[in-house]
Amino acid sequence: MLQRSSICGRNRVSRRRFPSPIVLSTVLFILLGACQGIPEGEAQEASQVSEVVMNGWRWFHVYCFRCHGMDAVGSQIAPNLRESIKILPHDEFIRVIREGRPEKGMQAWNVLLDASQMEDIYQYVMERSAGRLKPGRPDEQ
Ligand code: HEC
Repeated sequence: MLQRSSICGRNRVSRRRFPSPIVLSTVLFILLGACQGIPEGEAQEASQVSEVVMNGWRWFHVYCFRCHGMDAVGSQIAPNLRESIKILPHDEFIRVIREGRPEKGMQAWNVLLDASQMEDIYQYVMERSAGRLKPGRPDEQ
């Protein structure tokens, strides 16, 4: 058909008109695709840091940092949890958070934190301990 119209001048008009709906729909398709791609791209960037680690960072810097140091680096008051987590098994680490060691200045957190919040903190400290997470907000790295 293209060949015929290139030979026959009269068909040129219809040839010019004919592709426009296709071109239009192609442009629309690309635009729609691009628009849909924007939120998806943002979501992907945000999920580079897991929700769990992000929440762990938050809880840690509400409840724990004043003794265990900003970014879990430890302090003169309380141990560096990035080292503790290498020694204490998961359940023991969580148990210390839950029940504390009141006689040694570490309170029990079961009144303020539930199991999933303690797990968030565990995961955050683990990321810090393994060196996968730099100091600061996890979502700004
Ligand atoms: C008021 C200060 C204080 C706060 C706040 C605090 N801790 Fe502690 N924590 C301590 C002290 C002191 C120790 C060391 C106790 C000991 O000598 O056995 C400790 C020990 C620990 C240990 C055991 C470490 C080890 O090496 O045996 C864990 C785990 C722990 N804290 C987690 C947390 C978490 C998680 C939070 C926040 C929810 C928190 N702590 C908040 C003072 C604190």
